[in-house]
Amino acid sequence: MKKIKIAPSFLSADFSKAGVEMEQITLNGADFVHLDVMDGSFVKNISFGPKFIKEIRPYSKAIFDVHLMIVNPWNYIKQFADAGADIITVHYEACGDKLAETLKAIKDLGVKCGVVINPDTPVEKIADVVELCDMILLMSVYPGFGGQKFIPDVLPKIEQARKLIEKSGKDIDLEIDGGITKENVKLVKDAGANVIVAGSTVFNEKDRAKIIKDLREI
Ligand code: DX5
Ligand code: ZN
Repeated sequence: MKKIKIAPSFLSADFSKAGVEMEQITLNGADFVHLDVMDGSFVKNISFGPKFIKEIRPYSKAIFDVHLMIVNPWNYIKQFADAGADIITVHYEACGDKLAETLKAIKDLGVKCGVVINPDTPVEKIADVVELCDMILLMSVYPGFGGQKFIPDVLPKIEQARKLIEKSGKDIDLEIDGGITKENVKLVKDAGANVIVAGSTVFNEKDRAKIIKDLREI
């Protein structure tokens, strides 16, 4: 079993003190910081872009895990790479027949890459790009907002994705994103997820070191 990594979603942070939030969440034990980029077109919300990421980059040594919920992501990957992303994930639903070339383009920039699928997209759809990826990200809510309820139908998909990864023989992380709480984190780990995104669950808690530790150890 791969090491469990906790990835607080910065979407739930207080942006009026972004540097401090970033510094604290890192000191509190975040392995990754999950950065949700939304364009108001692929999803019905707008968050932040490369300038914001670049300016908070110096406040953390954690892995910057940039989740692009944008149309035509290939137009922006260089900007996010230059801003300090360590890994960039793009949606299968946003890429069409440009998925494989987009993943390769991210790697060519010296950044790790991954593909994301929405709750209603079957895992089989990404079977032929798994080997190109450093991480597979399964959405357990419809993307757009933090604080939504976990969709349990995604559990069998975690098992399927883990099997695909095992079949590839490659060292690929399996990330789960949306509605993760202390109550369901064990379910997603048992199904095979090893990178756990948690936005509201972490940032709504006063003792963030404790909640990160709990999510890691439960
Ligand atoms: C949803 C985002 C998630 C979200 C997670 O579109 O991709 O990363 O911020 O937040 P919680 O953990 O509150 O569901
Ligand atoms: Zn996300």
